[in-house]
Amino acid sequence: MASFKFVYLFILLTLTNNFVTTIAQFDRGDLNYDCSDNLTTPNSTVQLNVKTLLSYLSSNATANKQYYNTTVGSRNHSESTVYGMFLCWGDLPPQLCSQCVANATKDILSDSYPNCSLSTNARIVHGDCMIRFSNRSFFSTVDSSFYFAACSISDAFDKTNWMSVLSKTIDEVADEAANSTVGAKKYATKEARISGGFQSLYCEAQCTSDLSPQDCRKCLNASIANSQQFCEGLGSPVSTRSCSIRFDVYPFYRPSTALAPTGEVSTNFSTTDSQHPAYLSHNCSSNETMITTDRAFLSNLKSLLSSLSSNFTTTKTGFSKTTVEGKNPSDTVSGLFMCRGNLSTILCQQCVLNATQRISSECPSSKEAIIWYNHCLLRYSNNRSSLISTVDTTPTYQNFSIVNTSNPNQLQSFFTWTMATTLPEVKSVIEDSTIKNYGTKEVKLNDQQTLYTLAQCTPDLSNDDCGSCLDKIFKYEIPWCCLASPEGKVLSPSCYIMFGLSPFYTDDDRVEAYRQPSPPPTSAGDVPIQAIFSCKHRLINQLSKLWY
Ligand SMILES: *[C@@H]1O[C@H](CO)[C@@H](O)[C@H](O)[C@H]1NC(C)=O
Ligand SMILES: *[C@@H]1O[C@H](CO)[C@@H](O)[C@H](O)[C@H]1NC(C)=O
Ligand SMILES: *[C@@H]1O[C@H](CO)[C@@H](O)[C@H](O)[C@H]1NC(C)=O
Ligand SMILES: *[C@@H]1O[C@H](CO)[C@@H](O)[C@H](O)[C@H]1NC(C)=O
Ligand SMILES: *[C@@H]1O[C@H](CO)[C@@H](O)[C@H](O)[C@H]1NC(C)=O
Ligand SMILES: *[C@@H]1O[C@H](CO)[C@@H](O)[C@H](O)[C@H]1NC(C)=O
Ligand SMILES: *[C@@H]1O[C@H](CO)[C@@H](O)[C@H](O)[C@H]1NC(C)=O
Ligand SMILES: *[C@@H]1O[C@H](CO)[C@@H](O)[C@H](O)[C@H]1NC(C)=O
Ligand SMILES: *[C@@H]1O[C@H](CO)[C@@H](O)[C@H](O)[C@H]1NC(C)=O
Ligand SMILES: *[C@@H]1O[C@H](CO)[C@@H](O)[C@H](O)[C@H]1NC(C)=O
Ligand SMILES: *[C@@H]1O[C@H](CO)[C@@H](O)[C@H](O)[C@H]1NC(C)=O
Ligand SMILES: *[C@@H]1O[C@H](CO)[C@@H](O)[C@H](O)[C@H]1NC(C)=O
Repeated sequence: MASFKFVYLFILLTLTNNFVTTIAQFDRGDLNYDCSDNLTTPNSTVQLNVKTLLSYLSSNATANKQYYNTTVGSRNHSESTVYGMFLCWGDLPPQLCSQCVANATKDILSDSYPNCSLSTNARIVHGDCMIRFSNRSFFSTVDSSFYFAACSISDAFDKTNWMSVLSKTIDEVADEAANSTVGAKKYATKEARISGGFQSLYCEAQCTSDLSPQDCRKCLNASIANSQQFCEGLGSPVSTRSCSIRFDVYPFYRPSTALAPTGEVSTNFSTTDSQHPAYLSHNCSSNETMITTDRAFLSNLKSLLSSLSSNFTTTKTGFSKTTVEGKNPSDTVSGLFMCRGNLSTILCQQCVLNATQRISSECPSSKEAIIWYNHCLLRYSNNRSSLISTVDTTPTYQNFSIVNTSNPNQLQSFFTWTMATTLPEVKSVIEDSTIKNYGTKEVKLNDQQTLYTLAQCTPDLSNDDCGSCLDKIFKYEIPWCCLASPEGKVLSPSCYIMFGLSPFYTDDDRVEAYRQPSPPPTSAGDVPIQAIFSCKHRLINQLSKLWY
C-alpha cells in the first residue's frame, strides 16, 4: 500500500498508562486496524449482520454525510445485533469521504485486514476515514483508551513560548470542535504563528458526531492531558476511539473541504537564483589565525580537493568520501562530494571540478567548509567525526519566496498543504529507490500546474538517518506559514529538499538524449579526464547555455 511512511508509532495504552496492550500504526493516510480476537464463525448471524451493516454504511456515505451510525439485528436475536458507524476526517471533501468509506467497507472483508470480517468488535482506519462496529452498543459513549504518537515536535524551539501558544490554541480548537449538537460535525482546525519567525503551529481536533458537546470536550480534555504527559511537555498527538487531537509545525490538514480551488498559483518568484545558475551558496568556518600558518593542513587540503575532483571512477557513482591523513591529527582533512542522484557522470564531474575550485577561493583559510551547487555539494572538515555518516543539518542554505501574512489566500494554502503531504511521500520513494537516498515526486496542483519535488541525502546515511535529516529540514527549515510561491529549496550538509513548478530534475533525460549519438567511452576509468572533457566539450557548451 502506498501509504506514506511519515509514520507515527501509536501505542494503545490503558487508562492507567501502566502497560502497553498493543502496538499499532495509526495516521491519516495509513491503514490501521484493531479487530478483537473474539471472532465469530463464517456465515453466523452476527457475520451476516456485519456484512449488512457494512453495506448500509457504504450506501449511506453520500450527500455530505461525514458521519453515520446504524444498527442491524432483530429484537428476537439481540445477541447477534451489531452497531456500526463511519467517520471521515472533517477536512475530507464529501466525494472523497464516500469513496473512502466504500473502499474501507470492501477492504474489511479482504485479507488486507486479517480476521476483521469475522470480528465482533472492530475499528479500522483507512486513509482519511474510520469504520467501527461491535456487537455491543458504543454510541454516545466516550471510549478513553488512547493511542499516542511519537513526539512530533522536537525541542528545537523556544520552549516556553511554544508551550503557551500550544496550550492556548489547543484549548480553542477543542472548544470549537465540541461546540455543535449531537449528530453534527465535530471538527476544528487552527493555525497560530509562533512569534519571532516564520513558524506556525497547526492544530486539529475531532470527535465522533454521536457525542454530546460535553462528552466531546471531556474526551478531548483527557486527550490533551495525556498528550501533555509526553515529550517533555511539548505534547504529542493523541487519538482515542471517540476523539483525536493532533498538532504539528506543518499544515497536515486540508485548508478547506473543496477538492481544489480554481485558478493558478502565482509564481512571482524573484530570488537570487531564479536563473538556475549552477552555484548556490557556501559556508566557511573561520579560524584565520591558525590556518594561514598551518601549511601541512593546507597542503593536505589541496591534495584532498584534487583527489576528489580528479577521480573519475568515483564521479560515476555521484558520491565520494576521502581522507588525507596528516602527521598531526590537526592536519588530517576529510572531504566528500555528492551529485544529484540522477545526474550524468559528465555533469557531475564538471560540477565537482567547479566546486573544488570555488571552495578554495571562497574559503582559503577554513578548516571546515561546504559549497552548494544546484547539481552537487562538496564539503571538507578537519574534524573527521563530522563527516562520518552522521546527520548534519547545519549550516543550511534556503531560498524561498516568503510573504509575511497571517491570511494566505486559498490557492496559497492549497499549494502549501499539497506540498506538505507530498514531501513525506518522497521519503517513501527514497526507501524504494534504486538510487540510494534519492527520490522525486510530482503531483498536479491544478489543470495547468504540476508541483515537482526532490529530496536527497548523502548515500552514506542509512535510510533512517536520511529520513530524520529530511524531517528536520521539512519541519523546521521550511517557512510553512508564509510560502508565497511554489518554488524553493533548502540545502544542508547531509540532505536537501527542492521543489518547483518545472521538472527541474529531469534535465538529465535531455542529456541522455543528447549523448546517445556520440559513442560512449569504452572504459571511462582509464580515459584521462581532460580527454573526456574535450571530446564532450561541444556538448557541455550547449548544455551550459541551456541550463545555467
Ligand atoms: C471477548 O469475549 C470475552 C468472553 O466472552 C469477553 O469477556 C470480552 O469482553 C470480549 N472482548 C471483546 C473485545 O469483546
Ligand atoms: C457461507 O455461505 C456462502 C454463500 O452462501 C457459501 O459459499 C460458503 O460455503 C459458506 N461458508 C461456510 C463456512 O459455511
Ligand atoms: C442507509 O442505512 C439504512 C439503515 O440504517 C438502510 O435502511 C438504507 O438502505 C441505507 N442506504 C441508503 C441509501 O439510505
Ligand atoms: C446513532 O447514534 C445516536 C446517538 O448516539 C443514537 O441515538 C441512535 O440511536 C443511533 N442510531 C442507530 C440507528 O443506532
Ligand atoms: C420474534 O419472536 C416473536 C415471539 O417470540 C415472534 O412472534 C416473531 O415472529 C419473531 N420475529 C422474528 C423476526 O423472528
Ligand atoms: C459479542 O461477541 C463475543 C464473541 O462472539 C461474545 O463473547 C460476546 O458475548 C458478545 N457480546 C454481546 C453483548 O453479545
Ligand atoms: C478508492 O479505491 C479506488 C480504487 O482502488 C482508488 O482509485 C481511490 O483512490 C480510492 N479512494 C479513496 C478515497 O481511498
Ligand atoms: C486470526 O485468527 C486466528 C484464529 O483465531 C489467529 O490464529 C490469528 O492469529 C489471527 N490473525 C491475526 C492477524 O490476528
Ligand atoms: C459555540 O456556539 C455558540 C452558539 O452557536 C456561540 O455563541 C459560541 O461563540 C461558540 N463558542 C465557540 C468557542 O466557538
Ligand atoms: C580556532 O582555533 C583554536 C586553536 O586551535 C581553537 O581553540 C578554537 O576552538 C578554534 N575556533 C573555532 C571556531 O573553530
Ligand atoms: C579514486 O577512487 C577510488 C575508489 O574510491 C580509489 O580506490 C582511488 O585510490 C582514487 N584515486 C585517486 C587518484 O584518488
Ligand atoms: C563550471 O564553471 C564554468 C566556468 O565558470 C561554467 O561555465 C559552468 O557552467 C560551470 N558548470 C557547473 C556544472 O557548475
